[in-house]
Amino acid sequence: MEIKAVSGDITQIDAGAVIVNLFDGVKTPGGATGAADKALDGAISRLIAEGEIKGEKGEVTIIHTLGKIPPARVVVAGLGKQKDFSPEVVRQVMGTTCRRLRRAGIERAATILHGAGIGGLGTAESAQAIAEGALLGLYTFKRHFSKPEDDGNGLKELTVVEMDGSKLPLVQESLDKGRIFAEAAILARDMVNEPSNFMTPTNIAEIAQKVADEHDLEATILDKPQMEELGMGGLLGVARGSAEPPKFIVLRYQGDPDNPGNNLGLIGKGITFDTGGISLKGAAGMGEMKGDMAGAASVISAMKAIAQFKPKLNVTAIAAATENMPGGSAQKPGDVLRTMSGKTVEVENTDAEGRLVLADALAYARQMGIGRLLDVATLTGAIVTALGDICTGAFTNDQELLSAVISAAGTSGERIWQLPMFEEYKEQNKSQVADLKNTGGRKAGSIAAAQFLAEFSEDTPWVHLDIAGTSMSDRESGYQIKGATGVPVRTLVNLALDLAEG
Ligand code: BES
Ligand code: ZN
Ligand code: MN
Repeated sequence: MEIKAVSGDITQIDAGAVIVNLFDGVKTPGGATGAADKALDGAISRLIAEGEIKGEKGEVTIIHTLGKIPPARVVVAGLGKQKDFSPEVVRQVMGTTCRRLRRAGIERAATILHGAGIGGLGTAESAQAIAEGALLGLYTFKRHFSKPEDDGNGLKELTVVEMDGSKLPLVQESLDKGRIFAEAAILARDMVNEPSNFMTPTNIAEIAQKVADEHDLEATILDKPQMEELGMGGLLGVARGSAEPPKFIVLRYQGDPDNPGNNLGLIGKGITFDTGGISLKGAAGMGEMKGDMAGAASVISAMKAIAQFKPKLNVTAIAAATENMPGGSAQKPGDVLRTMSGKTVEVENTDAEGRLVLADALAYARQMGIGRLLDVATLTGAIVTALGDICTGAFTNDQELLSAVISAAGTSGERIWQLPMFEEYKEQNKSQVADLKNTGGRKAGSIAAAQFLAEFSEDTPWVHLDIAGTSMSDRESGYQIKGATGVPVRTLVNLALDLAEG
């Protein structure tokens, strides 16, 4: 979809629909909505008076203009209560509204800059949120249908109309910025939605290589012999049960080559299918485990946007990719692995494989000299019990780094909630036969897992994001559709931009 800025009067735009808005409870529309109301002889205020338009968030009312003005329809999008208004509301409203217009067969739409007037948003903020919400809300994953749906009836063009012509360059720049954020999240969605037979470790490596080639990043992809040489016993232990070769993927962006210490490492769990291994999962819902590489997808996808924004910061993305399968040479409960760090781990449960591959990825990142680590992983079912699919669980050994992550998440509208790391939880990972064991019992499963990872980040500032609940959605809402969410790609990108600003 093309998204462009024009200057003019919303009531005079030639389009299938023009989108205006209304805050909850407003009885007399002002601004552009008021202008549209006048041009339609009071149709909008009448619908408000009759209670048909309330301005509730997500409400979409389509009014046919019947030749009174050039646009064929005026669409009133409810923004909800003014006190709850934010760029996130703009994203959600644009997602819902654009899908509604697509269902109505509208190909060309125009919108005002929601909230840039009385809503209190900046022009740039509003424009970026409009592009993100529209592109993410219209996302579909249909490539495996034998008869692809005719793209001819989709929304093809979105025009953002701004009265003040002097603001057009800023509006266009912000729309383009929103597109870069959205397209990075869409790459992650595509990778996560892709079934495991189309998204093997090798396929992930190919995508990472393509991102590197297109955006001038350095790519290093380690194969099994190199992993053996480095002593990556965690990743290799998990990979033993699978016929698919594991891949250890490193993407580097050098935004501040003169200051190698000004760096950030983004580490992703890349289990392309998690059967549980010999500690086999049940059949119910196992198909969802094609998404157990969402962490890897998010760090690779974030690099695509970071490479385009070019922040003054060195960013390395690391993805540890393998299947977790119960093959004939699979690791077995009770086995002991020697990880790259030298620490040994008893594999009490082969289904706790994420922390095994991340142990090696964290050690590798530390050996590279990376001084700030952020790992992203669909790590535990327990985080879904604790937080549902509403927010990502966050854990840290460095409150300052987590504050930066939480702030970046606020900008992106992706929710994060911190869980405690009291050292008493470390007891749960103690083994009789090795330095650590990979399961911590039934209590506080997500925290025990985070404490396991903390053993491998050691004294390096580190944040762990458990996205088991937030990487996929079972419902359509706002700019989210069923399936992969693309979380936390936009947060990672905002974090890199924020850290570069200091
Ligand atoms: N990939 C799963 C976690 C998961 C669960 C992701 C639900 C997405 C949705 C992870 O590898 C796993 O199996 N964790 C186990 C750990 C346990 C054996 C200690 C779990 O949470 O049950
Ligand atoms: Zn897993
Ligand atoms: Mn597992």
